[in-house]
Amino acid sequence: MFKPNDRVGIAVSGGKDSAALIHALCKGFPNVDFVALHINLGIKNYSSHCKIKVEELTRLLDVELHIFDLKEELGFSIDDFKMTFYKRKICSACGTVKRHVLEVLAERANTKILATGHNLDDIVATMLNNFFNGNWTQLVRLKPVLKPLMANQTLKVKPLIKSSENENLLYCLYSDVPFREVNCQNAHVEKRTKDREMLEYLSKDNPGFKYQMLKNFFKLIPILEEYLEKPKLMKCKFCGFPSLGEICAFCKRVEMVKDTKR
Ligand code: AMP
Ligand code: FES
Ligand code: ZN
Repeated sequence: MFKPNDRVGIAVSGGKDSAALIHALCKGFPNVDFVALHINLGIKNYSSHCKIKVEELTRLLDVELHIFDLKEELGFSIDDFKMTFYKRKICSACGTVKRHVLEVLAERANTKILATGHNLDDIVATMLNNFFNGNWTQLVRLKPVLKPLMANQTLKVKPLIKSSENENLLYCLYSDVPFREVNCQNAHVEKRTKDREMLEYLSKDNPGFKYQMLKNFFKLIPILEEYLEKPKLMKCKFCGFPSLGEICAFCKRVEMVKDTKR
């Protein structure tokens, strides 16, 4: 995922997974140059608390921190999507915004590697969802090391892909790692909960079930990659990021949310 002389960006949300990630990486690899990247999403009763925890954590670890404040830099927050077509799927719009802004932050922080705190539970649930819906391209993108889509973009790595969310939580509790104590109110999405419930049911008598699925998924990736056509990417005419159409998903959503303010 990275070498001793690399400069590695770590996306830190304030949650237990990315808190465990930055803490474990800094303690485990003291000679690697890590830099923390945080997005202030402007979500009421949530984002300011996350920011405080990230600042506390990076101070404790003595790691350089770069923050992107959506409201200050782009003039809107994730809460503003409540006025748009995305009002019932804010998490989806938020995901698109986060993916784009993390690239911007990585460039500002002068790093070509972006590590995120995706855990085993996240990945297996998303994998199943993509499998049920036949989203093969999205399924392949869940792999632990993802090459840049275009030059100038980051290599995306998921060091905690084999760690469950409970392990990350215990790691934070036992190592006194500060992490957020409140939840984002938008995260309560029925479908995601159902997928999770099903996985918990299947894991009840077989605690290694999710890990087994992940291992089989790793075997499937090269087969899928061979079979899937490479998407034809162009540069978004507004931001220059890789896009399937003239305008990328991020710029389309930004336009939509800005329209509600005109
Ligand atoms: P999520 O998409 O919320 O499941 O988060 C997955 C990963 O994305 C986290 O473990 C972090 O590494 C990263 N991430 C999520 N939200 C933020 C944020 N506000 N700032 C920086 N990184 C984030
Ligand atoms: Fe993105 Fe909750 S953190 S919608
Ligand atoms: Zn764009």
